[in-house]
Amino acid sequence: MKALSADIFYDTSYKNKTDRTFYSKCMQRYPHDDVLEIGSGTGRILFDIAKAGIKIDGIEPNYSRFCIAKEKLEKSPDNIKNNVGLYNCDLEHFEALHKYSMIIMPFRVLQEFASAEEQEQALKKLKTFLKPGGLLIFDVINPNVKMLSLKPSAHKIMKTKQYQKGGRTFVKESVLKKIDVKNQIMSCEQVYYFTEGASTKKLFKYKYKSRYLFYAELVNLVRFLNYQIVNVFGSFTFKEFDKLSKPKNIIMVLKNKE
Ligand SMILES: C[S@@+](CC[C@H](N)C(=O)[O-])C[C@H]1O[C@@H](n2cnc3c(N)ncnc32)[C@H](O)[C@@H]1O
Repeated sequence: MKALSADIFYDTSYKNKTDRTFYSKCMQRYPHDDVLEIGSGTGRILFDIAKAGIKIDGIEPNYSRFCIAKEKLEKSPDNIKNNVGLYNCDLEHFEALHKYSMIIMPFRVLQEFASAEEQEQALKKLKTFLKPGGLLIFDVINPNVKMLSLKPSAHKIMKTKQYQKGGRTFVKESVLKKIDVKNQIMSCEQVYYFTEGASTKKLFKYKYKSRYLFYAELVNLVRFLNYQIVNVFGSFTFKEFDKLSKPKNIIMVLKNKE
């Protein structure tokens, strides 16, 4: 199994992202037994949790990311193998064999559901996988003025990041190609370059769409779906969401009331 796409850079480029520690700490902070991760990707967060001795299943529709996670699992010791279940599947087609006491959706997975209706359906379906009183934890971006005031067809480089892999230097450019403020959809692109001296070579492009949500919209939606809001954080340091301090994230901890 080989991943021949931009996904080979995934773990390296997000190695120091602070959400990893946040989700691991959630495992100590909130009660749970086994956990389900939606959109588990390469297992970047899932394996930290499994290594702490927690049983966790992950579903991931992107085949190359799923393969990276599967390879990690094959190389893992038996105690990890026994704790992890990986499924190459999207949420729409997944049927859980039992109910979980905790579900996590790290790194803006909810935004990958491309419309308000699909996001509502996703949150509704997740309730059916949760035990009564079970917790759902996820994060999404908190849309900011800079992002929203871009021209609709803006080709805007939001971030350029350089990193090392296999003794070589790579550059990742994150581009916001288009923003549809009516439907709240960003069309994004990540371009990966290999650099050597003055020369650069384009390696991979990864395109995706992302539907952002506003704080009030999300609060109303989860209440409408009969989730109880346990916490809303604005950062991965567990700082409470406070509209005035312009938090970068909306991180929700919800309880299944049913
Ligand atoms: C930004 S990545 C996050 C991956 C992983 N959670 C992490 O933190 O590294 C979002 C993931 O959501 C997955 N995804 C997109 N649509 C999905 C769906 N309908 N059901 C489940 N996962 C989905 C994508 O394939 C992608 O791997």
